[in-house]
Amino acid sequence: MSWTLNSAVAPPGPYPERLKEIVSLREHRAAVAAVSAWPGYAPTPLRTVGRLASRLGVAEVRVKDESSRFGLASFKALGGAYGVLRAGEDGAPQVVTCASDGNHGRAVAWGARMFGRRAVVYLPSHVTESRAEAIRSLGARVVRVEGEYDEAVARAARDAEASGWTVVSDTSYEGYDEVPRLVMQGYTVMVQEAVEQIGGAPPTHVFVQGGVGGLAAAVVGHLWESFGAERPVAVVVEPATSDGLYQSALAGRPAASRGSLETIMAGLSCREVSPLAWEVVSAGVHAFATVADHGVAPMMRAAAGGELGDMFEGGESGVAGLLGLVEAARRPERREAVGLDSRSRVLVFNTEGATDPELYRRIVDRGFREPSRLSESRSPTLPSDVSSPNRETLP
Ligand SMILES: Cc1ncc(COP(=O)(O)O)c(C=O)c1O
Repeated sequence: MSWTLNSAVAPPGPYPERLKEIVSLREHRAAVAAVSAWPGYAPTPLRTVGRLASRLGVAEVRVKDESSRFGLASFKALGGAYGVLRAGEDGAPQVVTCASDGNHGRAVAWGARMFGRRAVVYLPSHVTESRAEAIRSLGARVVRVEGEYDEAVARAARDAEASGWTVVSDTSYEGYDEVPRLVMQGYTVMVQEAVEQIGGAPPTHVFVQGGVGGLAAAVVGHLWESFGAERPVAVVVEPATSDGLYQSALAGRPAASRGSLETIMAGLSCREVSPLAWEVVSAGVHAFATVADHGVAPMMRAAAGGELGDMFEGGESGVAGLLGLVEAARRPERREAVGLDSRSRVLVFNTEGATDPELYRRIVDRGFREPSRLSESRSPTLPSDVSSPNRETLP
């Protein structure tokens, strides 16, 4: 694990006015009013993983479990569909478009279907065909882009410009930040649900996985405005090969990932961070960490098998925050740096369930059933270390 403390983090105090332009309780209320009226809306469960908490020597670990969100199996449904809704308020064009690692595209496609619009979704090469198919099944057109997530972002922007479509992106870029702001506000619906489910005192710590940083900004911004000086200590967790937020923390400004972007945590794979999200993240996050792929599969199996406490379906990107917590808690100097101790009440987000069901089953089943048959049928596109269970990553 790489680990760095954020020397620029704001001291305890109220949420800065300037950040309310990006994530705010006022805008959150509008998002709740809209999202809670959608068919099938229900708060997702908050799990308690007591066995893990005692192994880590903390008071409590709660997992906000997004694996059932709107039947799309990820929290992204909240942001992408809310972006489609709000971007369509002023009689905007009929076609919405975006780039995606899979989940955002599915959310935009679902939102477009719900609000009577058409969606075109650009997918970089690493996104599995099963995820592409899930997007098509919602009526969207999928365009494959040779290259990384960021190339898909650029292509969506270019084609939208040429065709007069509306871009509903989860990441901001120069001259484009209104819709990503709304997308982040959509995510805050999940954060508030967790706050209400926890009840009483706020969590002391939150570990949240990072892609472009929109999720982290929503989590940190919402908790900060809600709890002011009592806001939780926040740690952002990224794949070692896709570490744009970590690099940004080192540089003190938005910086690109230095890694290959190849990771089993597909939802977190991107080169650039969202500059808009970075405004909130850079002020509100206390530490940045990266985790290696080999810890993901054992964590998914542990979650599915109830080894951590309550069982849940943790997807590849879903368990990243939990993995970061486990890795951070192993080392006394990191525990001390962020004040993790026997009184800590930690919140993490299982941001996706089985968003690629076939891949999920291959990873999870191998640990429990039919190992020989499953290893024979291993996909050549899977990173090799996923196939070798590494129990060492659990304390
Ligand atoms: C399952 C999952 N978790 C976390 C994230 C990270 O969100 P963000 O890119 O806003 O940092 C994503 C992004 O697509 C995701 O799909």
